[in-house]
Amino acid sequence: MSTMQLKVIGEERGSLVALEALKNVPFDIKRVYYLYGVQPDLPRGFHAHRETKQLAICVSGTCRMLLDDGKAQTEVILNSPNKGCVIESMVWHEMHDMSADCILLVLADTHYSENDYIRCRDHFNNLCRR
Ligand code: TYD
Repeated sequence: MSTMQLKVIGEERGSLVALEALKNVPFDIKRVYYLYGVQPDLPRGFHAHRETKQLAICVSGTCRMLLDDGKAQTEVILNSPNKGCVIESMVWHEMHDMSADCILLVLADTHYSENDYIRCRDHFNNLCRR
């Protein structure tokens, strides 16, 4: 459960952030997706992944990420394109207060599989207690 600062290559023409598997991204990237056009009052997420690790970056706008590994809760405000949030496997996560201009870019180390999701909070809590 952690945030990371991404190096910005800045110059007079603007800023550039490079994401490289197993360099500044702490896993091999198999999938990239992004969320946008989300209403602030409609939070997303509310699940954990059995295996998948992810890196989430608000490349535009802001959102509030709640993370819970079964032991501790963390809140991360993603409000900069150079701030990443690593979502490890078996971490319950929720995205709240996504601004109208929020584009949440997510890199993942697996292809999409619904079997990897734990969408029931009670089930997640039970798995964490084992
Ligand atoms: P979901 O992960 O539940 O969204 P969120 O966590 O933002 O609330 O995904 C929403 C829908 O999109 C769900 O039907 C699964 C589908 N989906 C894919 O087909 N591929 C993907 O890579 C992702 C992340 C979701």
